[in-house]
Amino acid sequence: MSSQRNLQGKVAVITGASRGIGLAIARALAGEGCNLLITGRDRKALQAAGKAAAKAARTRPDTPAAQILVHAADVRDPKSVKELFAAIKRRFGRLDILINNAGISHAMAEVERLPLDAWREVIETDLTGMFVVTQAALPLMRRAMSKPHAPLPIRRETARH
Ligand SMILES: NC(=O)c1ccc[n+]([C@@H]2O[C@H](COP(=O)([O-])OP(=O)(O)OC[C@H]3O[C@@H](n4cnc5c(N)ncnc54)[C@H](OP(=O)(O)O)[C@@H]3O)[C@@H](O)[C@H]2O)c1
Repeated sequence: MSSQRNLQGKVAVITGASRGIGLAIARALAGEGCNLLITGRDRKALQAAGKAAAKAARTRPDTPAAQILVHAADVRDPKSVKELFAAIKRRFGRLDILINNAGISHAMAEVERLPLDAWREVIETDLTGMFVVTQAALPLMRRAMSKPHAPLPIRRETARH
């Protein structure tokens, strides 16, 4: 089945892309020619994920290699998220796709035994983090909607990690 290549040249942010589901999505989108900024807190893991996504970006000779940018950020921290989107604005100037994937889960426990701190950590990451990231993303996404075919700034490298 041939791919529609609808993602080629788009710009996507994937939170929690240093491993697991987020990294799998990053590889899939990169293989479709979608430019990416991938994020998570662990810089070393992110660098390795960036290399994996860049490799996936080079697998199709008929598709221009996507640009892959890695930037460490904590979705719970508005300042960190603000810096993340400033990096996207500098590099790509717009954002087409946001994948709010970063998340944690607490250990399996009965409600009576679950520490309140563990509950708060999950809420802070999975709910507040998603809110903070979405709020920061919207201005760039609105810009992409108003100029859907605007070219990306020209870079010397086609893939970077
Ligand atoms: N796997 C499942 O069965 C399952 C089921 C239901 C829902 N989910 C949800 O699906 C998503 C992905 O699951 P997964 O299994 O791939 O999880 P995972 O392997 O644990 O990966 C989670 C990702 O989120 C990042 N992350 C965690 N806290 C963060 C924070 N405060 N700021 C920025 N990044 C953060 C992690 O990187 P760092 O730790 O380096 O920050 C990592 O890249 C999660 O939201 C998870 O809750 C998964």
